Amino acid sequence: TGHVTLDFGYKNTGATKSAITFLDGEEGILKYRGYPIEELAEKASFLEVAYLLIYGELPSKETVDKFQKDISMHTLIHEDMKKFFDGYPSKSHPMAQLSSLVCSLSTFYPESLEANQSEEQKNDTIIKMLAKMTTIVAFIYKKSLGHPLIYPKNKYDYITNYLWMTFGQRTEDFEPNPVVVSAMNKLLILHADHEQNCSTSTVRIVGSSDCNLYASISAGISALWGPLHGGANQAVIEMLERIKEDGGDTDKWIAKAKDKNDPFRMMGFGHRVYKNFDPRAKIIKKACDDILESLGINDPVLEIAKKLEQAALTDQYFIDRKLYPNVDFYSGIIYRALGFPSEMFTVLFALGRLPGWIAQWKEMRENKEPIGRPRQIYVGDVDKHM
Ligand code: CMC
Repeated sequence: TGHVTLDFGYKNTGATKSAITFLDGEEGILKYRGYPIEELAEKASFLEVAYLLIYGELPSKETVDKFQKDISMHTLIHEDMKKFFDGYPSKSHPMAQLSSLVCSLSTFYPESLEANQSEEQKNDTIIKMLAKMTTIVAFIYKKSLGHPLIYPKNKYDYITNYLWMTFGQRTEDFEPNPVVVSAMNKLLILHADHEQNCSTSTVRIVGSSDCNLYASISAGISALWGPLHGGANQAVIEMLERIKEDGGDTDKWIAKAKDKNDPFRMMGFGHRVYKNFDPRAKIIKKACDDILESLGINDPVLEIAKKLEQAALTDQYFIDRKLYPNVDFYSGIIYRALGFPSEMFTVLFALGRLPGWIAQWKEMRENKEPIGRPRQIYVGDVDKHM
């Protein structure tokens, strides 16, 4: 144990070399495969970004059309998977359902268990994962409402198909609002990858034991669920609601967040790596204003969020600790404006992060990285006998 260096939370320990996402926390820069997040969020489609992350290059029109077509061929899930829903209690958290449903894909597609998959098999597993995710996510939502399930339609693109299965009516032809499609596209792109965060590291470490893609992604979904990670987006809206019901006194809640005897933290604030600003939060804040205006929605929690941000940014506690709004601070207000309940917010994060997890799993495999296995310093008893 003499040679083991302790680094709780891996604050300074690199675990891999990666060519997928570049992040400069001091400057607030985020790039996927060299492309700035701002440009991608403005000009690319989510599937183009997914392809970029997974295969390394932005696809041509022809390539992305084929990618979309391949995905559309696999959007149905096995009918038997619908039976799982009957087993969950009616108010089960969608993230628990998502994690177990995604893991169970490996039972329906046992070819994914092969550790040395050919290129073709590996791509087939990746396409199925991307395709079935939207259907699983939409079915979880429909089941939570007790509504009939809406099946995928191949004529729609990835996002429109997802919105159709979520908000479409069985009897009418679906006309998605372009504002909603564009907002979803932007949000999913902004969540698509974020180098070695908790869930991505989980996907890599689970995959490093040669575990199949579905089970590795399922583990990532579980890691994302926690309120310090992706679960923060649900926690933020619940916090803003509580502040609103409490009379909207933001100073009181800032004082609570600063109080070391109070476990309350300002949800949606702070980041392990960003110490200046979170570039995703900047784009999302602007998008939030635009989207609410286009949809004609006046959400009183938006005002509270802005007041809170303003007060926190001028408070010495937040300044000293370099605590700024992160990606989760404004995203929930947009999701809510689009019609999603707060329990679905982290599921939407997972839908966005999926291409990043896949890309990182694939890179780890292709680099033939060794099994992930941290060390420890033993501090227990050493000499006990029965
Ligand atoms: N509210 C109040 N104080 C905070 C907060 C907060 N949100 N975040 C950090 N601090 C304080 C913390 O108490 C500590 O103070 P001190 O030095 O006096 O002990 C200092 O700032 C450093 O915090 P830390 O917990 O050591 O930092 P970390 O890098 O381990 O944690 C974090 C990062 C994101 C988990 C944390 O900032 C946090 O809990 N934020 C709230 C939850 C959240 O919004 N998570 C979403 C993260 S971004 C998207 C994603 O990953 O999904």
